[in-house]
Parts: sequence; structure tokens; C-alpha cells
Amino acid sequence: MCGTCDDHVHEDATSCPATGHPPWRAVGPEARVVIVGKGGVGKTTITAVLARLLARQGCSVVAVDGDEQCNLGPTLGIAPGVLAHAVPISQAGDYIEEKTGARPGTGGGGMIRLNPDLVDVVDRFAVTGPDGVRFLMMGAVRRAGGGCFCPETALLASALGDMGAHAGSVVLLDTHAGVEHFGRALARGFDQAVVVVDPTVNAVQVGLDTARLAGTLGIGVVHLVVNRVRSDDHLARALGHIDALGGYDFASVHVLPYDEAALESEPAVDELLGSGPLADAVAAIGVDLVRVPTMTSVGWGRP
Ligand SMILES: Nc1ncnc2c1ncn2[C@@H]1O[C@H](COP(=O)(O)OP(=O)(O)OP(=O)(O)O)[C@@H](O)[C@H]1O
Ligand SMILES: [Mg+2]
Repeated sequence: MCGTCDDHVHEDATSCPATGHPPWRAVGPEARVVIVGKGGVGKTTITAVLARLLARQGCSVVAVDGDEQCNLGPTLGIAPGVLAHAVPISQAGDYIEEKTGARPGTGGGGMIRLNPDLVDVVDRFAVTGPDGVRFLMMGAVRRAGGGCFCPETALLASALGDMGAHAGSVVLLDTHAGVEHFGRALARGFDQAVVVVDPTVNAVQVGLDTARLAGTLGIGVVHLVVNRVRSDDHLARALGHIDALGGYDFASVHVLPYDEAALESEPAVDELLGSGPLADAVAAIGVDLVRVPTMTSVGWGRP
């Protein structure tokens, strides 16, 4: 079926013979991506711009806030009145117990079922924001003294990993910091990580540690984003830090310029979506994530 106009039936692997439309919209590109990095490096901003740009290109996007500070909703530009209807998964106690066998906050231990039937999690708990981005909140509270916030994490990771349930969606998970609190359950749901750093040694160190951990957990494809780069010297310094700290075999490397508009437009990223160096650079990340070369020909990256 032609994915753009729905009028013509043809083989999935070919473009529409009648219109020339690319076939990818028929099911939409799929990606399961976790965005990680040191605090304050730009994870939420990048997640939101990516989500909005991908959605503008017709992708079915589910953006998940895995940070209990819950910044992603406003950053996506979702109005407070709409956000008020978003139920954090961690507060949906009956649902979690029904699906995982453990109530939130009880630990759960070995009782958690890691492969619950979660086909309805997005439909039940997501709200829809600008450009049709569906938004889901974890709302989890990190437990004192413990790195794990199961069973919410097990639920989320399993839910998002259910390819059958969300066929044709791009799922972007914005996180507070590292990936260790997700443990191996994360790799059930996510096959790519975007590690965000800024050009400081500390951010690069955290980024490399996180990349290695993601690899250990089984997330095979790790992309690097160097954010808030002000000059070639700045970039050279960041790349020098990466080399000095042992490097990593990143699937792709992207450089995002420092852009005052990010501060001026906050909390929402609307002002960053038009054509410009930052939007173009984020759009290039999207292309790598969904690996759909035809996006360029349909105006990828332009509002
Ligand atoms: N390319 C950029 N140029 C200029 N400012 C930026 C850029 N990217 C992000 N920022 C700004 O940096 C600040 C931190 O960004 P953001 O909240 O996205 O980081 P974060 O990694 O999600 O932080 P946290 O770890 O606290 O969740 C914000 O004020 C944002 O507007
Ligand atoms: Mg954030």
C-alpha cells in the first residue's frame, strides 16, 4: 500500500508506481532509542526536537519521559491543560500490578514478570502533543539507596520493546542520567542509544561510561551527539577528550551548534524546529535513527 496517499497497492519494498511516493509511511520507520548523558547536556531538548521533526515527517512518534522531574512534556510544547491528563505509569498501580505481578514501591524482586502483555500502555496513558507526538510519563521515584525502580522500569522497558504492539513507531526515551537503573530490561525495549555530551571532560567521561554500559546491557547501536559546540576549537577539544578517555565505536557522530534560540524558546522547542543549523543537525540524527534515505526527498527536516 502506498503509505503516503493510501490509494495504491504495491509491494512494500518499492516506491509507489503511480505517485513515486516512498513506501516507508505504510508502516512508518521503527526505532527504539534511549537518550542518555550527564545532567544538563541537552538530552531533553534534543529528544523533543527529534520527536517533533520526525512527527512532522509522518513518523508515528512516542516520546517517553523517564525523568521524574518531568521536563519533556513542556519541552515538546504540550499545553499544561493537556499534560494534566497524562497519568504517570508509576502511579497506575492497578495496571502495573495487573501487568507485572508487583505493585509500584514494593520492590517486587524476582516476582516481576518481564514479558507482560502491554499492547495498550501507550493508548491508555499517553496524551497527544503538537505534531501528533504521543507523550508518556514514567513519573518514577528513585528509591533511596537502591538503583532500581522496578516494577515500573520492567513494565516500561517491556512495553516499549513490544514491537508488535507499536509497529511503525519511533520510541524516544528521555532519561535523567545513566542507564544502570534500567538494567538488562532496557535492552528488551531499546536497540539504540543516543549519548549526549557537551565539550567538557566531565560530560565526555559520563557519556563514554554510559555508552560502554549500554553496550554491556545489549544495546548494540550507540550514537554520539556533541551538543552546544561554539567553534571548531570547541569540537576539537571534545573529540580530544573522547580519544584521551579511550574512545568508543559509535555508530554515528553528530555535532550540534550552540544556539541562543534554545534558551530564548524554552521551555518549548518550537523556535528550534525551522530550518537552521541546530534543526538540520538534529534532523540528521533522525535520519540515522530510522535509516530511511528517502526522507531527504520528502523534505526531511523542514517544517
Ligand atoms: N544546542 C544548544 N545550544 C544552546 N543551549 C542549549 C542547547 N541544547 C540545550 N540547551 C540548553 O541547555 C539547557 C539544558 O538542556 P536540557 O534540559 O535539554 O538538558 P538535560 O540533559 O535534559 O538536563 P537534565 O539532565 O537536567 O534533564 C537548557 O536551558 C537548554 O535550553
Ligand atoms: Mg532532561
